[in-house]
Amino acid sequence: MARARSRFVCQECGTEHRKWAGRCEGCGAWNSIAEEVVTRGPGRPGKAAPGLALEGLKGRTAAPERRLTRIAELDRVLGGGLVPGSAVLVAGDPGIGKSTLLLQASAALGRESAASAAGAVYVSGEEATDQLRMRAERTGLADAPVSLLAATSVNQVIATIEGLAPEERPRLLVIDSIQTMYAEDLDSAPGTVGQVRAAAQALIGYAKRTGLTVIMVGHVTKEGQIAGPRVLEHMVDTVLYFEGERGQQFRILRAVKNRFGPTDEIGVFEMSDQGLAEVANPSAMFLGLSDTPDGAIAPVPGAAVFAGIEGTRPVLVEIQALVAPSSLASPRRAVVGWDTARLAMVIAVLDARCGLNLSGQDVYLSVAGGLRVSEPAADLAVAAALVSSLADTPAPAGTLFFGEIGLSGEVRPVSGRDARLREAKKLGFEGAVVPPGKDRAARAPAGPPRMVEIRALTELLALFGLAPGDRHARPLRPLDGGGGRTGTL
Ligand code: TYD
Ligand code: MG
Repeated sequence: MARARSRFVCQECGTEHRKWAGRCEGCGAWNSIAEEVVTRGPGRPGKAAPGLALEGLKGRTAAPERRLTRIAELDRVLGGGLVPGSAVLVAGDPGIGKSTLLLQASAALGRESAASAAGAVYVSGEEATDQLRMRAERTGLADAPVSLLAATSVNQVIATIEGLAPEERPRLLVIDSIQTMYAEDLDSAPGTVGQVRAAAQALIGYAKRTGLTVIMVGHVTKEGQIAGPRVLEHMVDTVLYFEGERGQQFRILRAVKNRFGPTDEIGVFEMSDQGLAEVANPSAMFLGLSDTPDGAIAPVPGAAVFAGIEGTRPVLVEIQALVAPSSLASPRRAVVGWDTARLAMVIAVLDARCGLNLSGQDVYLSVAGGLRVSEPAADLAVAAALVSSLADTPAPAGTLFFGEIGLSGEVRPVSGRDARLREAKKLGFEGAVVPPGKDRAARAPAGPPRMVEIRALTELLALFGLAPGDRHARPLRPLDGGGGRTGTL
């Protein structure tokens, strides 16, 4: 029968060991194994365990009814609202705005359902209710129907909710954060792997039984992983990361796992002094279009606009490159918002197929606005930014780029062509440099008026006044630039 026993769990990765050791075999961390006492051990399968009824795949299952938070950016990332009985983990760096987002979501849901039932209970293990009230006041939510609870015991949290009259029970339970919670039947301290797992298990189980949606905040480690056991990611239905660059006001909510929706959607927010505001038109935001009255970006060498797709939405971002002679034996390659290995590939192809030698140059590449781009479709825009910087020639004004680059220097078609072009046209772009369309019909009439289809990377060079094999003759120019040269389509 079940009885109390000890186990030894690595606090870094959650691997269980039979006895204590100085180093975890699972992740190689030193001194990370701690003893945990389990009050209820898993019982062995009994001899007389009754069998269960098997079910077929066929049968009617109603699509889960969703609860909209009415924060459109959040609802979309969730796959169309909150699913009753589901568990969501929201992870992110300290100070990124997790508490703010979830307080706003609780308030919005509370307002939605105020007529019928209680909306949300916000449990904070980190802040006192006074602090929460201050945040609510600051974000203009002081009168929202949200119940606050300062607690760290999941047993107490569940008992508090059970103690409410059925019509007062919330539909959303926010736990801020799961690392501060503990389950009373486990002896170890809050924050340890065992506690995080047990607390999450209790909450998820309660959600499944009662149809309540639980959203848990998860802290991340220095390496950017959810602190505590990786199993937490497996236990919940949805994992969202809330990310953003320090010093930038943009915040991006990204689904990395979702049992009830797509995982490539992003929600874009802006942190203001009244909380998080939705950004319905991220392209304009990332391009800084709102800064210039006519919406035009002054052409500068080394910048190229990429028409990307994030989930279902096209998003235009500026990719900036700086190529400068290096004094280092192995020149510097610094990348923000893109993949270093992919940059190395594009540089190698420019060298091998176009004769542009970057081996003696430092290369800095950054995606403006703090977005992280992971699509191979950005290859062509990256190449354009690099060539533009190398040639010291701005890209043709009002032109965007997308296309995947192959190792032999070919420019390949990418998905979402029409959506990308439509977004570009909507924002007033006049030119596009793109891979060849699959067929005539694919030549979207919706795109910008001047479209150049290129099949090989060598064709890109001509746009910047370079010929294949040019060893970047680089005129020195005064800082105010000016100079008449601009690429043409
Ligand atoms: P918070 O939601 O507490 O972050 P987290 O829970 O992820 O740690 O947000 C903290 C930051 O957001 C803090 O640095 C202040 C800033 N902030 C604003 O700029 N405006 C606001 O209205 C609020 C509430 C916070
Ligand atoms: Mg917080």
